[in-house]
Amino acid sequence: MKLPAARGELSAAVIETLGGGGLALPGEVPEDTDPYGEDLHLALYLCYELHYRGIDGVDDGWEWDPDLLRLRGGLERRFLDALRRDVPVHDDVASALEELLVEPVHGTGVSHYLREEGEKWHLREYVALRSLYHLKEADPHAWAIPRLTGRAKAGLVAVEYDEFGSGRAERVHAKLFADLMTDLGLDPAYGRYLEPATAELLATVNLMSLLGLRRSLRGALVGHFAAVEITSSPGSRRLAQAMERAGAGPAAVHFYAEHVEADAVHEQIVRREVIGGLLAEEPELEPDVVFGLDATGWLEDRLGERLLAAWRAGDSALRVPL
Ligand SMILES: [Fe+2]
Ligand SMILES: [Fe+2]
Repeated sequence: MKLPAARGELSAAVIETLGGGGLALPGEVPEDTDPYGEDLHLALYLCYELHYRGIDGVDDGWEWDPDLLRLRGGLERRFLDALRRDVPVHDDVASALEELLVEPVHGTGVSHYLREEGEKWHLREYVALRSLYHLKEADPHAWAIPRLTGRAKAGLVAVEYDEFGSGRAERVHAKLFADLMTDLGLDPAYGRYLEPATAELLATVNLMSLLGLRRSLRGALVGHFAAVEITSSPGSRRLAQAMERAGAGPAAVHFYAEHVEADAVHEQIVRREVIGGLLAEEPELEPDVVFGLDATGWLEDRLGERLLAAWRAGDSALRVPL
């Protein structure tokens, strides 16, 4: 991944520092920083990327630099405080899950739109955005493994084993997604579409990195994991249909078709074993699991609104059109 252009003072400081311009980090995050804004989310995204695959030309040692970590902590607090304030949460896990499991008859989400009226350029924009997660699909959840025990650990690893291709490199879901990108004439290089991605998309990926990297938020990470797996199967069915209808290639259809079946199984394991197992051992984590479930849905809804508003107006939903 290459260093992108800055979107404000915080991201400029991180980019300059990582790019070798000398330590230029602010001691604190300014009071008036938008917790959902482009600047904060790009800065945070770059801090996190050091824990995944690193950034071209950036010294790997920055991953554990105390000054950068201090700034990252400030950015995270700003984002997390805003989520705790703004996300309406369910009373308990059962009611949060119940709502996720009910499929609306007349859905109005992004996958519905793409299935009904998506053209190839909509699909290309959608896939370019989602590549920021899917090219590292399941990676942030793997950080939970050493923090779980018993049924929760066994269940999570069973699902992750599928996500990572069950021992076959060509079936790793991130690889299936790269093939899908090629089908749609997109560049499958890791991090290639960071520049066009808006803050609404970056926030969804930053949430999982934040939860993944903090043991204290393992309950919320499990909630996030559950939200992803439970909503994936019906959404993937619609996206497979959208790909087929728009004449995308076989790999594009295959990625989503694969997720229809796999995630129907994953949903069961996540509910019974991962959430059930975790809460049997650590019942006090239930509010965190609920927060993870609800915050994930809330950020996804914001992203969906942004995409649909742009597309309905006939506009690109990206910062820089493809
Ligand atoms: Fe997957
Ligand atoms: Fe899955």
